[in-house]
Order: sequence, then structure tokens, then C-alpha cells
Amino acid sequence: MSGNVQVDQLLSLINQAAKDAVAEYQSRGKDVLPLDTPDVHPLDSETNLVALKKAIRLLEGATVHLCNMLAPPIHTICNSRPDTALYRVAVEASLADILEGHPEGLSLDKLAEAADLPAPKLGQVMQTLVANNCFREVDSGVYANNRISYALRSTSETDAAGLVSVTTREGRLSQWKYWEYLKDPETRDATGIDNTCMLYALRKEGMVLKTPFEYFITQPDRRKQFDRAMVALSRSSGNTSIVHAYPWQNAKTVCDVGSGVGSFALPFSRHHPDIEVTLQDTPDVCKDAAELWKKENPAAISANKVNFVPVNFLEEPVVPNQDVYILRSIIHDFPDLLAVQVLKNIRKAMSPTTRVLIQEYIIHPAVGTESEKFGIEQAPEPLQPNFGAGASRLYNFSFFMHTMLNAKERTVQEIIELGKAADLQFVKVWDLAETSAVEFSAA
Ligand SMILES: C[S@@+](CC[C@H](N)C(=O)[O-])C[C@H]1O[C@@H](n2cnc3c(N)ncnc32)[C@H](O)[C@@H]1O
Repeated sequence: MSGNVQVDQLLSLINQAAKDAVAEYQSRGKDVLPLDTPDVHPLDSETNLVALKKAIRLLEGATVHLCNMLAPPIHTICNSRPDTALYRVAVEASLADILEGHPEGLSLDKLAEAADLPAPKLGQVMQTLVANNCFREVDSGVYANNRISYALRSTSETDAAGLVSVTTREGRLSQWKYWEYLKDPETRDATGIDNTCMLYALRKEGMVLKTPFEYFITQPDRRKQFDRAMVALSRSSGNTSIVHAYPWQNAKTVCDVGSGVGSFALPFSRHHPDIEVTLQDTPDVCKDAAELWKKENPAAISANKVNFVPVNFLEEPVVPNQDVYILRSIIHDFPDLLAVQVLKNIRKAMSPTTRVLIQEYIIHPAVGTESEKFGIEQAPEPLQPNFGAGASRLYNFSFFMHTMLNAKERTVQEIIELGKAADLQFVKVWDLAETSAVEFSAA
């Protein structure tokens, strides 16, 4: 097919996807607001995001595909983005918090003084962030928040700052020695959680740890940021859509295995107040969760509709006889053997009617028919069937799991195989646009 024809196809996909996204705002009686507005985004507290996520996936996939087709390859290759270092500065220096008190803007000198940073260097950071649509320059050398930077405030309910903190620190740390890790005879074939690229990079800095989890367990401030990052990840991937997409009316009890502080359980309990929900995680996380729920959903506590039960799901069964066990972004933390161990500890706790939902990013092979076979939406031509750049976050995240934990995101078939090894019977896939949930019963 001629490239010219593909340009027309892509333009019409972009047009359609943008209109679909606007329709999602309109269906909720909201307007799309300009980027300049420093305000909470109208859909930040929305939990049912499947249609919007699908529209944005198509829009991003088609837009990047079109730019990459029309620009010379060297242009695209040169687009390596310095955002990571810059976003880290924005978050560590609390720039969005400082500017919140100055809607009219703050001069570079005053911003630098408040952030305790050298003004000339901060100027470099600000001009590049502004060019990337984060913060706005309201007058020459005067900066204010825009909609994107506003989400980086420490008080934002999206917890975006936590996600930036972990991806720009532990995330980057896990990747900066990847080439050396790949070539080192001692690590090139390593598959264990005790020999990951993150541990390799830390060892080079003189920090010797047995697992990446030990890093977070021994540094409570980093664990708190990690917990916040999990909430942000949940929001950014739209994975709370499962609260609406699954037929929960048949369930009286739901156990959230590896719950974190409640990125799923909190919105779930608000939408389904009659269903008893049990959060299971490590003792420290359960303690943090119990504290958070006193503020966020005291009604569930006084109605005895929430339990916080510590577990080590690698070594012991979870609470027994729940109607549904949900594992969100858990299996992707572990290599196959350990993942099966977790599933076996759930299988031991199941009754004959129990269902298990494994919800995470699911890899859709770029070729072949696996996604179609499981009823997962495929992208229109000329995009890659898995939406290409529209789904790049999923693949970037898989690489992140690989470098940090020697784990990965998996295909549906790979998840089915893990289930089989734990005596679980595949039921169906729930396609939620960015994440999917794979449902199992007892075999
Ligand atoms: C990637 S986070 C996912 C959190 C949550 N499910 C979500 O979607 O936001 C993994 C969670 O598993 C917990 N975890 C890791 N190993 C565990 C273990 N052996 N037993 C219990 N929880 C564990 C971590 O503390 C963390 O909260």
C-alpha cells in the first residue's frame, strides 16, 4: 500500500479518535479545558475509563505512527527525551507546590530561591519542561502551573508525584547499567529475583541486597513513594475500570491479594458498599492501609465491610473461601516459578465456586492471532495490531519489570499456562483497553 494512502487513513483515525475522546467528556456533562488551566482534571476521579482509554490509545498510536512516517528516521531517533531528569527535578524540588500559591506566576529568581536551587540551572530545566507542555511561561522568565504540572503537586489525588519519584529514581537506576548487565558473563543469563539489573546497578554503588523488595522494606520513605506510585499507576492505566466492568453482583466477599493500600479496594468499596473486601499485603503495608482507610472510607470500617490481613503470599495461603480473589499487578512482579507459587496459595484457599481475576498489563503479540482468539480488540490498519505507540506504556513497563525484578508482563496464553500449573481453569479475558483481567475458576 502506498504511504500516501496510509497518511489519509491515519488522519481519519486521528479525527475519529479525538471525536470519541471529546464524546467521553460530553457524556459526563464536562468540557475539555485548555492545557493552560491549572486545575484538577475533570476526569481525575473517574473510575470507568475504558472508552476514553481506547480513544486515547488510538489517537496516540495513529499520531506517533504518522509523525514517524513523515519525519526522516534520524529526526525520530534524535527525539530521545530528557523528560525523566526534568520531571525528577520538578517533583524533588516541589516546584508545582511552590507555584500553587502563585497563580499569577513567579519569577525564575524567586522560584529558584523557594526551591533552593541555582537560578541559571533551574532556568534550563523550566524552559525545557515548558516546551514539553509541563508548567507555563506567563511572561518572560515568569512561571506558573498548567494542567500537567498541577497534577505533580504533592496533594494531587492522582499521586502522580509518587509515580514520577519511583520511575525516575528506582526505574532509571534499574536501567542505567543494563548494557553492562547484558554483557557481564556473571549476569547475562541471570533469571532470578536475587540477580536483577537493579541489584546489579546497586552493587556497583556498594549496596548489596538479596532482592529488590529488600530495598523498599529497608527504606520506609521509598516504600511510601512506591505505595503512592501504585495508586498513580492504577489511575494512569485506568485499571479501576474493573470496578464497573466485572459482574460483581454475584459476590459477597472479595479478597485483594497484594492490595497495596487500596488502589482497587478503595474505589471498589465505594461503588459496592455491601460487598466485604479483604486487603492482604505485607504487615507494614496493611498497617498503612488501615490508617489510610480511617480517612478515606471510615463507613466501610464501621460497617465491618473491610479487613486488613497481613500475608506472605509466597509462603502461606490467603484468607479462605472468598467469592473473588483479585490480583492486580502482582503476577508480573515474579518469574514463573514464584508466580505459580502465589497462585497455588490462592488455589488452596478457594471454594468450588470461587473466581480468580489476574489483572495487569497484558502483552498482545505484534503478529499472529492470539489477541483476536481471546476477544481482545485489534488496531485498524496501518497501525500495528497491538496499537504500537498507543500501547507503548505497556511495553515500556514490561521492560521496567524485566530490569527491576527479572519479571515481565505476559501474554494471555502465558498467564493461562501459569494458571494451569496451579490447577486453575481459564474462563475468559476482560479487555479493559490498557490492562486486561484474566478470569479463572478452580480446575
Ligand atoms: C506492584 S504492587 C501492586 C499493588 C496493588 N495490587 C495495586 O494494583 O496497586 C505489589 C504489591 O504486592 C505486595 N507484596 C510483594 N510481595 C509480597 C508477599 N510476599 N506477600 C504479600 N504481599 C506482597 C507489595 O507490598 C505491593 O503492595
